[in-house]
Amino acid sequence: MELTQNLWERYGFTDNPYDTKALSLSKAAHLSVQAAYIPRAQATTTADLMTNFLRNPGGGRIAVEGDPGVGKTTFVNFHRQRWEIGAKHKLISPAGEISVREGWTERDFLLNLLASLSARLRLDIGEKALGKDKLLTEINAIVGVRAEDSGGMSGNLTLFGFGGGLGHNKSKSVKVGEVTNEHLREYLRGLVVLVLKRGFSGIIFHLDNLELLGHRDIGVLQKFFDAVRDVIQEPGIYFVFVGHSGMFQQAIVPLPRVRSIFFDTPVHLEPLSLPEVKAVMERRYQLLAVPEKQWIKPVADEVVESLHHTFSGKIRYVMNAITSLVSHLPDSYAQSLSMSEARNMLQSIARSEVKRLLKGAEEEVFLQAAAAGRFTNTELGIQAGKTKQLVQKYLKNWLGLNLVTQAEKSGRNQFYEIEPRFAVLKDSIQ
Ligand SMILES: Nc1ncnc2c1ncn2[C@@H]1O[C@H](COP(=O)(O)OP(=O)(O)O)[C@@H](O)[C@H]1O
Ligand SMILES: [Mg+2]
Repeated sequence: MELTQNLWERYGFTDNPYDTKALSLSKAAHLSVQAAYIPRAQATTTADLMTNFLRNPGGGRIAVEGDPGVGKTTFVNFHRQRWEIGAKHKLISPAGEISVREGWTERDFLLNLLASLSARLRLDIGEKALGKDKLLTEINAIVGVRAEDSGGMSGNLTLFGFGGGLGHNKSKSVKVGEVTNEHLREYLRGLVVLVLKRGFSGIIFHLDNLELLGHRDIGVLQKFFDAVRDVIQEPGIYFVFVGHSGMFQQAIVPLPRVRSIFFDTPVHLEPLSLPEVKAVMERRYQLLAVPEKQWIKPVADEVVESLHHTFSGKIRYVMNAITSLVSHLPDSYAQSLSMSEARNMLQSIARSEVKRLLKGAEEEVFLQAAAAGRFTNTELGIQAGKTKQLVQKYLKNWLGLNLVTQAEKSGRNQFYEIEPRFAVLKDSIQ
């Protein structure tokens, strides 16, 4: 096998057209949001809503929801990019999205906002000028120390002149541990002022992956919103919270004091339609084509259609499946994979993965679970003719192996869902 780093060259591409990273804000990226974004057809309930939210002067809070892999992160990146570049009133936002972690307090939240925005400003302003900016230097010292928390430095570093530039009259030096949340909020306000001075009309913070918090226990997410409800009211800042379908209803609506400060409707993203998914791929074929060369589609259109159906439109799983197919092909293979070849391969890839992890009766029961897609312990037990205890034991193991995830609870029934990549096993079992 030739050791070149391009699996896709044989099709005429410079890189993987089915890469499932969210589209990047950076123009330099192979797949940037500017070039590779396909607008959604249901614009009135998505893009227009988002645009109107950002057109409200002075800041705000909105929820963006949808199932995994439908394009939430990319959607928000697209809008951030639009407001930063094309808009008359420009909104600045940190380069990356901020991933909220379980157990975050108001303080963790504030420190992350400060760190990401000051990093962005550092790029704009340049290291040299930054050294002369008191506010940014101080913020830098604080968030920098945080990054070294594990190194045992925390609390020992002393900041000189803290607060002086912010209307406080403290001239004594302050231990980092003494920087209160109120101080951190003043830093944030300071950054808003700085950003306005630089000609922007506001800031967008993109808080991503909130579904990871509410996954097992929606209370964790409620606790988070409750903790940050004051901070997210800072004027001049647009907070976009991205999470699972139903997040707004389950985690925000029950908290009247949080709900009342949110944009009235969440943006709900449906999976992309088949024509949209095809358009995404067409665009990527064009963008990644080796200049002056011909290219061919790694898989036939009907494979895309079939996978779109298998994965209920979730484009991330469609593209992951195609990448997996190509990775399993012999190197000499350079034609569009047909429907029947693709299906057989995907099923055998999934089956051998299951075989590697599970044995005997457990493997059998898992294949039944895969055929069902979604089930409770009781349902699966009845179907497979196994006791509840045994199924419980299996389920625990599968959760640990990430073969299934816990879906919602209805009454005393806990639903489970098969990891989407095993959906290809569905059609092979009678
Ligand atoms: N409108 C779109 N145009 C082009 N590519 C998209 C679009 N929506 C999603 N994608 C692509 O689909 C994949 C999954 O999108 P992502 O934003 O990561 O989903 P989510 O955040 O909902 O899990 C990414 O590779 C992304 O680039
Ligand atoms: Mg995402």
